[in-house]
Amino acid sequence: MMSQSIEIDEMVSLERGEIDRRIYSDPAIFELEMERIFARSWLFLCHESQIHEPGDFFQSVMGRDNVLVVRQKDQTVKAILNTCAHRGNAVCRAEEGNTKSFLCTYHGWSYGIDGKLLGVPGFKTFYAGQLDKSKHGLAQVAQVASYKGFIFGTHDISAPPLEQFLGATGRLGLDMIAARGDMAVVPGIQKFIIDCNWKIAVDNLFDWYHPQITHVSAFSPGVLGLDPGRTTTEKIDMSDVNMDSGGALDMPGIGIIGTKFDQVVVLGEYGHAIGGPTASSLGNPDFDKGWRATPQARAALGPVGVEVAGHPNIFPTTWVTSVTGQVSLRIPRSPAQTEIWWFTLVDSNLPRETRDFIVSSACRVFGPAGVLEQDDGENWSQATAQTRGVASRRMKHQLTMGLGRGKIIKEGGLARVEGLTNEHGQLWTYHSWAQWMKGLGWEELLKATTPGEYI
Ligand code: FES
Ligand SMILES: [Fe+2]
Repeated sequence: MMSQSIEIDEMVSLERGEIDRRIYSDPAIFELEMERIFARSWLFLCHESQIHEPGDFFQSVMGRDNVLVVRQKDQTVKAILNTCAHRGNAVCRAEEGNTKSFLCTYHGWSYGIDGKLLGVPGFKTFYAGQLDKSKHGLAQVAQVASYKGFIFGTHDISAPPLEQFLGATGRLGLDMIAARGDMAVVPGIQKFIIDCNWKIAVDNLFDWYHPQITHVSAFSPGVLGLDPGRTTTEKIDMSDVNMDSGGALDMPGIGIIGTKFDQVVVLGEYGHAIGGPTASSLGNPDFDKGWRATPQARAALGPVGVEVAGHPNIFPTTWVTSVTGQVSLRIPRSPAQTEIWWFTLVDSNLPRETRDFIVSSACRVFGPAGVLEQDDGENWSQATAQTRGVASRRMKHQLTMGLGRGKIIKEGGLARVEGLTNEHGQLWTYHSWAQWMKGLGWEELLKATTPGEYI
């Protein structure tokens, strides 16, 4: 193990906007992340709509622990570790389903949906009735809670309550989906692996500098169209895109991307952030603009929140894309491997046709068949691979765009920075990452991740 807090402070500099590349490749840092971030933080597990009936379960991941999120007979939700109390085998191989019990396929111990040990083959003969079954149930996740249908869990019994952990920034991110209607997850979670470090996949969601370059291949043929009825075959002339002269790229169904449009970055406690365009300057598909103009949206998001149209990230790894109504997890598998999960939510009251349209748009944009994530994944894996070389890793990652010029405005419980394209969201994520990695107590961590006056 590396010598911890001192080195971590040197690895992320909020002042210089520099990141030490070893944080993307060092196995010791990855191990420390598992302990200090993923075994402490509240992590998104699944949505209530996925586990309606008693016995419904969904298998999720917390760090490297597989957990079964199970609806109980009294309608409460439990999260239990998917590892047999006897000798560790998984007690469930299915990704989701409904069951009356969990049966281990190794020696046959069986458990109730609450995790209690029920049956032990040979209990009377081999064990002579001497095994205390009440002591060998499946382990429970320390805390489980739900915010507007989004179920989270934490391994840390001393973690603050979920709503407090989310704070105004995290709650706003989830409200952007929850407030749209009677939201339910479409069956079938898309899962795939990208060869990249999880932090590169996370910081990219605040990066509004790359779309006009990285996604030229996706935008120029006009295959992306998010508004029903808009043509998806318009071609874009890339030759007049000159970002320094304020030029902008008008993408069918997406809107205008360029330096001209206003950005707002919300910085939240514990590392949550929302970064991207303001609702009125962009850009967002007409159905999103229309929704934000409704009194319900204003009431749910508040006067500041209704203008925030960028990407929320609930620290560490829960990305909400409000426009396509999706939640994505970036699950760390190794320093150079990240598993991506996509949950797509639609309003159950919408007509079938509209729901189908939203789902097909979502699949076309993100996920394994989505054109954007194909472009992004190539960059992320190359950016990760080049952090491993002895000479390459001596160079620092640069996050200096707008550095020190981001005046933080505090209003309506939110801390925000306004301006043009910048790297404040990424920098805030790495700054907060460093605070978590120091192993601070919850109070100190809150203090260290409370936005100041400038970033
Ligand atoms: S490991 Fe599960 S019954 Fe033995
Ligand atoms: Fe991208």
